[in-house]
Amino acid sequence: AMTMRVLGIETSCDETGVALYDTERGLAADALHSQIAMHAEYGGVVPELASRDHTRRLLPLIQTVLSDAGVSRGELDAIAYTAGPGLVGALMVGASTAHGMARALDIPVLGVHHMEGHLLAPMLEDAPPAFPFVALLVSGGHTQLVEVEGLGRYRLLGESVDDAAGEAFDKAAKMLGLDYPGGPAVARLAETGDPTRFRFPRPMTDRPGLDFSFSGLKTHTLTAIRKLEADGELDDAARADVARAFEEAVVDTLVIKCRRALDQTGLKRLVVAGGVSANARLRERLGLETAKRSAEVFYPRGRFCTDNGAMIAYVGAQRLLAGEHDTVGQMQAVPRWP
Ligand code: KG4
Ligand code: ZN
Repeated sequence: AMTMRVLGIETSCDETGVALYDTERGLAADALHSQIAMHAEYGGVVPELASRDHTRRLLPLIQTVLSDAGVSRGELDAIAYTAGPGLVGALMVGASTAHGMARALDIPVLGVHHMEGHLLAPMLEDAPPAFPFVALLVSGGHTQLVEVEGLGRYRLLGESVDDAAGEAFDKAAKMLGLDYPGGPAVARLAETGDPTRFRFPRPMTDRPGLDFSFSGLKTHTLTAIRKLEADGELDDAARADVARAFEEAVVDTLVIKCRRALDQTGLKRLVVAGGVSANARLRERLGLETAKRSAEVFYPRGRFCTDNGAMIAYVGAQRLLAGEHDTVGQMQAVPRWP
């Protein structure tokens, strides 16, 4: 087969990610600039600052990736970029850069769905999952269970009707006075918490179905914190106990729904991706759960759990191999894209 070299660009939120995927050699290089420190002082992502920083970082990152991979611009076969969903201004930076380069180089340009990137990120590992599999996508914007039959053949089994799991972590972190991004901070605090002191609800697990809801859990967490405060008991230990109860509730809910999805589909492979897939407690529980039913669980490596250019380059390369390519001139920046 002919080698294809695809540059991937991710700018949907607060990470500028660039990578080069080679269909023969695999991932040839990847680079990332995280804006987390810049947004931290505002307690969350400031869209205008995100766009400006992507503008500042993207071209130098592309240079870095090309030189790390030892590939010249003229040797690129296509450019893939995240076309959505995400912050519209941030998406525009990646989309316009990708289209500009593709036009100059006269090569195809492919708009990729951000969640398809997360979904297929585990394919970049040494022992990738075979199709078909069940995927749990847990990020700051999405919580979805998907049946994956092959490239581009996805069936949504269930999703959150309100907050995403990562969003719930971020909100719980704020309530506990922890820094953005909240997920890792809550997880760290939960490590020292007593799992028996509080028991928070496992939303929507008492009825059939694969949808999720995390907004009630958020209210429950706030109520627990307010009560501790009113009783003069909100010390560091109590905060850790709340973090632990919250994490257990989210993790347990995700585990219950994964088990159901495996039962319902009869599949034995589970893929977990998106920012929350970095959560150690979730990995521990899913490891036990899948072992029990002689199923397997797959994750992206740590730095590909959160946003990155490698997953976009990978999807672009697969689409190109499948004979697809967008035509130059149809630039896409789709903030909401089911
Ligand atoms: O996939 P991602 O980088 O960006 C989106 O596309 O949303 O996911 C970011 C989300 C944030 O909500 C963050 O708090 C959460 O993933 N997260 C975690 C952990 N690491 C990141 N949540 C729980 N535990 C973690 N260790
Ligand atoms: Zn993401």
